[in-house]
Formats: sequence, C-alpha cells, structure tokens
Amino acid sequence: MTDYRMLAAQIKALAEDEPNFIPVMSNASALLYENMEDLNWAGFYLMNKGSLMLGPFQGKVACIRIEVGKGVCGNAVAEDATQLVKDVHEFPGHIACDSASNSEIVVPIHKNGEVVAVLDIDSPSLSRFDENDKAGLEDFVKELEQIIEF
Ligand code: SME
Repeated sequence: MTDYRMLAAQIKALAEDEPNFIPVMSNASALLYENMEDLNWAGFYLMNKGSLMLGPFQGKVACIRIEVGKGVCGNAVAEDATQLVKDVHEFPGHIACDSASNSEIVVPIHKNGEVVAVLDIDSPSLSRFDENDKAGLEDFVKELEQIIEF
C-alpha cells in the first residue's frame, strides 16, 4: 500500500527551497509515479485561459487542453470534487489520452478557494484506486496547496 503521509512529507521537504509550481509539480509527479504501483500516467493540468492546460507529468504524451466539464479532469473542476473512476470506459465523455488507461483518479487543487489545477493519475488496471487512495491523495494535495506558489 502506498505511504501517502511519507510522500506528502517528501514533497514538503523538496519544496522548501523552491516552492514554484513548475519544480514542485514536476517532482510531485515523479514521486507519485515512482512510488505508486500499477500506473501509466501521473501528472497535473492547470487552469489557464478558462480551460485545463497540460502541466508537469510522467507517462506518455497527453492531451494539451481539456474544457471544464469535459472528461474526468474537467468534471473534477466543474464539480470541485475528487473523481474516483473504477472503469474509465463507463465514464461519459472520458478522454482517452493513453489507450492503456482503465481506471483513473482526479483530485482538484485550490488556491484562495478556487480550483487552479488538478492532479490526474491513471492505471492500466480496472478499479486500481479505492477510498484509501482517495483520502491519501487528497491529503497529498492539501500539502501541495500549502506549499505551491503559482
Ligand atoms: N482521461 C483524462 C484526460 C487526461 S489523461 O488521462 C492524461 C480525462 O478524461 O479527463
């Protein structure tokens, strides 16, 4: 099982000297991708000019822009809620950037009460993510919200 508290402590330590969102999100995606099992993509989309724009990530090349309300990521923004999707093929409007993805979790990231980005993690396995991953990743994102400077 992933030790999310350890990962949150690690990203906090890594961000201490440089809290800019580019190095912090780059290292956060690397940390998650290396330490979580059975993933094919881990990274960020940032709100930019009214839609989500691809940010730092690990995995295959991905879609550059996602409209709010579209796909799993766009729904996370529209609803301001974590999306835990056990089978992406059953999610209406799912955007297939990597055909290997079968399950996905997306957590909104806030600044001053607004959603400014999302953390998106994909797995080639069905039902890869559960309530424990949701709670752990939401705690990880709370840490990011406190340290990141945009
Ligand atoms: N599947 C996502 C798109 C981003 S990729 O997974 C990296 C979605 O439906 O929003």
